[in-house]
Amino acid sequence: MTKKFDRYTITSALPYANGPLHIGHLAGVYVPADIYARYLRMKGKDVIFIGGSDEHGVPITIKARQEGVDPQKIVDRYHEQIKKSFEEFGISFDVYSRTSAPIHHKTAAEFFKKLYKDGKFIEKTNMQYFDEETQHFLADRYITGICPHCGYDKAYGDQCENCGTSLSPLDLKNPKSALSGNVPVLKETKHWYLPLDQYEDWLKEWILEGHKNDWKVNVYGQVKSWIDQGLQPRAVTRDLDWGVHVPAEGAEGKVLYVWFDAPIGYISATKEWSEKTGKDWVPYWKDEKSKLVHFIGKDNIVFHCIIFPIMLHAEGSYIVPENVPANEFLNLENDKISTSRNWAVWLHEYLEEFPGKQDVLRYVLTANAPETKDNDFTWKDFQARNNNELLAIFGNFVNRTLVLTQKYFDSKVPAQGVLDEETQKVVAAIAAYPNKISSSIDRYRFREALGELMNLARLGNKYLTDQEPWKLIKTDEEKVKTILNISLQIAANLAILSEPFLPFSAKKLRGMLNMPEHKWSDAGTSTLLESGHQLNKAELLFERIEDKTIEAQIQKLMDTKKENEEEAVTAKPSKEEITFDEFMKVDIRTGTILEAEVVPKTKKLLKLKIDTGIDERTVVSGIAEYYKPEDIIGKKVSILVNLAPRKLRGIESQGMILMAEDADGRLCFVSPTEDVSDGSEVK
Ligand code: MF3
Ligand code: ZN
Repeated sequence: MTKKFDRYTITSALPYANGPLHIGHLAGVYVPADIYARYLRMKGKDVIFIGGSDEHGVPITIKARQEGVDPQKIVDRYHEQIKKSFEEFGISFDVYSRTSAPIHHKTAAEFFKKLYKDGKFIEKTNMQYFDEETQHFLADRYITGICPHCGYDKAYGDQCENCGTSLSPLDLKNPKSALSGNVPVLKETKHWYLPLDQYEDWLKEWILEGHKNDWKVNVYGQVKSWIDQGLQPRAVTRDLDWGVHVPAEGAEGKVLYVWFDAPIGYISATKEWSEKTGKDWVPYWKDEKSKLVHFIGKDNIVFHCIIFPIMLHAEGSYIVPENVPANEFLNLENDKISTSRNWAVWLHEYLEEFPGKQDVLRYVLTANAPETKDNDFTWKDFQARNNNELLAIFGNFVNRTLVLTQKYFDSKVPAQGVLDEETQKVVAAIAAYPNKISSSIDRYRFREALGELMNLARLGNKYLTDQEPWKLIKTDEEKVKTILNISLQIAANLAILSEPFLPFSAKKLRGMLNMPEHKWSDAGTSTLLESGHQLNKAELLFERIEDKTIEAQIQKLMDTKKENEEEAVTAKPSKEEITFDEFMKVDIRTGTILEAEVVPKTKKLLKLKIDTGIDERTVVSGIAEYYKPEDIIGKKVSILVNLAPRKLRGIESQGMILMAEDADGRLCFVSPTEDVSDGSEVK
């Protein structure tokens, strides 16, 4: 019952233009999307592969404010950098657009207008937090506070990054403006909401019933749990000045919510492509025979499986995605990748530090892709996969084959003679590879597909090792001709089938074999290279990566860790706010230590007699590890005198000495620095 499609519309999540790309982006989205697009093109399919920068949203405006520049300046900087890195890395977009482009503003505004006109939105006026100093409504990341679910104190108005819960600003405890740090006030404002709840039945039928078996379990599961919890109307506008202006009455000073405009960016990008190429964009988005596939990371699932499809469906003239093969996350050396902590391998740095090694990273990120669970990137694994797999299996096979042909037959493809039984088996095995690899790619199992490609190289290696042409050459040159002919056919098959995964190496290999670009369907035969065909000089496809290279990368990460730790030795965040009256209940006085002795059978406790100015009283204090009794007699201290008494080791403690405690747990007295009489109030 597999549907036949006439064309493929492949999108990859638009990265925010407020920072560089890292390996997490690549492994999660762009490498698999690129493999898929390249593969389909080789199969002769009509494909458009879409990318672009997501240039709206609060984080960009906050960064601009911090730097004191216009948001456009921030997005211009990163858009250029991101675009260039993608190009150098071989991500084969047909178009790489951006959401600050006029065509996008126009497309997004028209999309909104159509839904508005058709009455698909709900208009609601309600109270929202407002920063009176900066005169901003505080949506999304403009507001921070305590997460009501996990207590994390840096939760944002749209999400808690600690527990992952999606939030609204009104959920936050102790809300603060991210702009000024002020406590916000509530103020009335009007917004447009998309009533997601009205589409529940449609979603259930389309996804829960229609895609139970072909969508990845991680994706299907997340969508199901959202739907099962019940959907709520969602605001699609914001009180901001950076973004696509809302084309509606009474919408001055309002823009579209970034997650409303950004996915429309896929459509705008297609229009931009259409203007450049003269091809019609419409069928890619409106013809049922087009297969729309969104490549994204797992944090984008709800937007691509629920909200954007509802928008497309509500608009009425668009197709919805056929699949959303979202990946899980990639970690780095056992720690979550983080831009703010600089915990990442940055693509632009990799390209500079490992010139010409795009395919190594593409290989490692595919072989270790977080397809079904979070995975870990380590530099040791990177080195091992290069040296023991790419080099030892793929590179070595190709090199042995070409060097032997150069040596025995002057780099001309020798003739295929009679095939012995083992060779016949090899020929039959070769024939099966294109379909094996296809069938994995068709199901978005890219690491499995890559594994099969490597098995073809393994097959070649084994064939050479078993046949030992270097020994046979003395006794049976005819047989050596056949062996090398078949080995060369395997190499030619590798040159075709590796193209989606390792495009740079595939091209290099085609050059060595002096062969043209082929279609996917040409692979599988053992007659790709005719006998007598002239080959070019053998070059190395992959190089060994040495320990010192890897150590330098690990050192770089260790330096980052150290910098982060140094920064982290700052104070704990403040406790919950109290009122002045609450503070005035606390009675702290200056006093003097009159007597001190260790509490018997304890290591930490001292029993002190204190002159508080009011009275003389006994206090038990956990400071014996830091102070000897004889050293503190006569010391001036601050003492909390109205604390309820409590018993420690049978001794009634009548108050508490104030001590400062640093991050390492070291204690020191909080004493008056000038001479004051005992019993003075501390306030
Ligand atoms: N910028 C978003 C992110 O990095 C992804 C946007 S995808 C789109 O998470 F569909 F909205 F474009
Ligand atoms: Zn939380």
